[in-house]
Amino acid sequence: MIEIRKMHKDDLKNVLKWRNSNIVRQSMLNKEIIKWEEHLKWFEKCQNDDRITNLIVDKDKKTIGVVNIMANDIESKSCSWSIYLAEEQGKGLGTAMGFAVIDYIKNILKLKKIYVQVLKENLISVAFHRKIGFSLINETSINVKERSVDIFNMEMNID
Ligand SMILES: CC(C)(COP(=O)(O)OP(=O)(O)OC[C@H]1O[C@@H](n2cnc3c(N)ncnc32)[C@H](O)[C@@H]1OP(=O)(O)O)[C@@H](O)C(=O)NCCC(=O)NCCS
Repeated sequence: MIEIRKMHKDDLKNVLKWRNSNIVRQSMLNKEIIKWEEHLKWFEKCQNDDRITNLIVDKDKKTIGVVNIMANDIESKSCSWSIYLAEEQGKGLGTAMGFAVIDYIKNILKLKKIYVQVLKENLISVAFHRKIGFSLINETSINVKERSVDIFNMEMNID
C-alpha cells in the first residue's frame, strides 16, 4: 500500500543519501554533492515557507521516493515538483508514486496544475512524465554554472 506523508527531520539523513546518489544528482540542475549543513539549512528554510511541501512516499512501510513541491501561484493553483525514487528504478515504482502524488496534490493541496523541468537528456524522466499525463510546453536552454543545459518544460492539468 502506498502512503504519502510530510518529510520529517528523521528522514533527512536518508533523503540526503538518495539526493546525493549519482542517478539522482545527474537528473538535477544542481549536480553538486550536497553537504549535511546545507541540507539541514534547506529543510529549515522549507519548514518556514508555506508554499513548499516536501513529501515522503512509502510503500508497505518502506520509503520508495521523495517529492519536493513548490506552489507557484495561488491564482492559477499551480505548483512545480521535483520527484525521485529512493533506490530502485524502472520497476513501475515511479509510476505508482507519481499517480499517488498527483492525487495528493489534487485532494490535499487542492492544486490544479503541475509543472516540471526535465533535463532533455533524461530520457527516462521525460518518458515517465509523459506516461503519467504530462505534456511538453516547450524546450529551452538555461545557464547553470556557465554551462548551457537543454531543458524540457512540461505541464499537467489535474481534473
Ligand atoms: C524518473 C523516475 C521517478 C521514474 O521512475 P521509474 O520507476 O524509473 O519509472 P517506471 O518504471 O514507473 O517507468 C515509467 C516509464 O518511464 C520509462 N522508463 C523507465 N525505465 C526506463 C528505462 N530503463 N529506459 C527507458 N525508459 C524507461 C518508460 O517509458 C516507462 O513506462 P513503461 O514501463 O510503460 O515503458 C525514476 O527513474 C527516478 O527517480 N530517476 C532519477 C531521478 C529523476 O530523474 N527524477 C526526475 C527529475 S525531473
